[in-house]
Amino acid sequence: MKTIKMGIFGCNRGMNFANHIMMNNAEIVAVCDKDERWLNKAKEKLGDGVAYYSDFEEFFKHDMDAVLLANYFNEHAPFAIRFLEKGVHVLSECTPAGTMAECVELVEAAEKSTATYMICENYPFMTFNREITRICETGTLGKFMFAEGEYNHPGHGKDASFSRTYIPYEKHWRNYLPATYYCTHALAPLMYATGATPKRVTAFPIWAPPTEKIVCSKHSGDRTAIITTLNDDDSVFRFTGCAAFGHEENSYRVCGTKGQVENLRGTGGKISLNYSWWDKPENVENNSTVYEPEKNDPDQELIDKAGHGGGDFVVMREFLNALRENRRPKMDVYFATVMSAVAILSHRSLMEGGMPYDVPDFRKQEDRDKWREDRSTPFYGYNGEEPTIPCSSKPWHPSEEQLKAYFEGIKNR
Ligand SMILES: NC(=O)c1ccc[n+]([C@@H]2O[C@H](COP(=O)([O-])OP(=O)(O)OC[C@H]3O[C@@H](n4cnc5c(N)ncnc54)[C@H](O)[C@@H]3O)[C@@H](O)[C@H]2O)c1
Repeated sequence: MKTIKMGIFGCNRGMNFANHIMMNNAEIVAVCDKDERWLNKAKEKLGDGVAYYSDFEEFFKHDMDAVLLANYFNEHAPFAIRFLEKGVHVLSECTPAGTMAECVELVEAAEKSTATYMICENYPFMTFNREITRICETGTLGKFMFAEGEYNHPGHGKDASFSRTYIPYEKHWRNYLPATYYCTHALAPLMYATGATPKRVTAFPIWAPPTEKIVCSKHSGDRTAIITTLNDDDSVFRFTGCAAFGHEENSYRVCGTKGQVENLRGTGGKISLNYSWWDKPENVENNSTVYEPEKNDPDQELIDKAGHGGGDFVVMREFLNALRENRRPKMDVYFATVMSAVAILSHRSLMEGGMPYDVPDFRKQEDRDKWREDRSTPFYGYNGEEPTIPCSSKPWHPSEEQLKAYFEGIKNR
C-alpha cells in the first residue's frame, strides 16, 4: 500500500502522536490548531514539508488519507462525520460522541462511509493491559464473570501548570466534565480483554468537592463516579470515570470461573495471576504468581519510549495496520459509541439516585430512533451555546479564591 498521508486536528494531545505516526511509516501532511501556542510547537517539531492551518475549513480541504482527531473532548463526532463522508479514515480521541444523538449520527456515517473509523483508546494497549488481554484470550480463566477498572488521575492544584496547559479558558470542557464522561480509559480495557459489551448501566457519584485553597475552576464537586454495567455475556463491570483518588495509578482486574488476573497497584505494572488450584492449566507451574509482563514485541524499543505505558505507539500501529490490511479494527464505531452511551447514561443515572438505564445497541434501528433527537449536554457548545444539563450531582462551583488563582495562573500562557 502507498504511504498513508495523515492529518492531525488539535495539536496539544495530537502532537504526542507525531513520532508514532512516522515510526509506523505513515506521513504527516497537515496539522491544524487555532491556538498559536500549539501550532507553533507543531512547526518546531515537524518543520517544513507539512501544511499548517489555524482554520479547520482550510485543513479539511487538504489531501489526506486519514486524520487523527485530537480536538475538544466533546466535539469529535461532528468532525469525524465530515471526514467519513469525505472518505477519510478517522482515528478519534475520546470521547467518540458528546451526546446520544451524535452516537447515532456517528454510527450511521461510519456505516455509509468507505473509510474506517477507530477510537484512539490507548489504555487497552498499555503493557499490563495487553498482558491481561493475552491471559483472557487463552481461555484459562473460564467464563468471565466480573471485571473492574480504575482510571485515576488526580491533579494537585498547588500551582497553575496543569490549568495553563490543559484548561486555557473558563468555559473549556475540562471545567464542565461530569464524573462519568471520561470513562473510556477505565472501560475500554475491560471490553477489549473480555469481549463483553455493556447492556444496562447504573452509577453513583463520589462527592468530595475541593475546599482547600488551590487552583480550581471545575464546576463539579464529584471526584469520580462508580459505574456498574450488566453486559451481554451476563458478566458485570465496575469502573470509574476519571477518578481523583489520592495517589495516581490505573488498575484493572478480570475474574473468571477458574481464575483471575490483575495489575498490582504499587508495583509499577506487575501482573498477579491466580487460578483455583483444581483449575490450574497444565502448563502453569504455580496456581498463584506475580510477574512482570514479557517485553518481546518486535517494536519493543519504540513501545518503551511511548507515553501511557506504550499505549500511544500501539494504538497508532493498530489503526495504521488495520488500514493497510483492509480489516475492521476491534475498537470500531460500535465499540466506541457504546462507551459514549455508557458515559452519558451513567451521568443521568447518578443524577437520578442510581436509576438504571438500558445501553442502546446502535446496530438496531429502534435503539437509534429512541435516541437520535437527544442532544442534552453539560458542555458549552461549538458556538458558545449554554450547557443544557448540570455537570455535577449537586450544585457546586469553585470559590472566588480558587477561581482567582485559576485566572491568575492562566494569564501568562
Ligand atoms: N488517550 C489519552 O491518553 C489522552 C490524553 C490526553 C488527551 N486526550 C484526549 O485528546 C483530546 C484533546 O485533548 P487536549 O488535552 O489536547 O485538549 P485541549 O482542549 O487542550 O486541546 C484541543 C485542541 O484542539 C484545538 N481545536 C479545537 N477545536 C478547533 C477548531 N475548530 N479549529 C482549530 N483548532 C481547534 C484547540 O485549539 C486545542 O488546542 C481530548 O478529547 C482528550 O480527552 C486523550
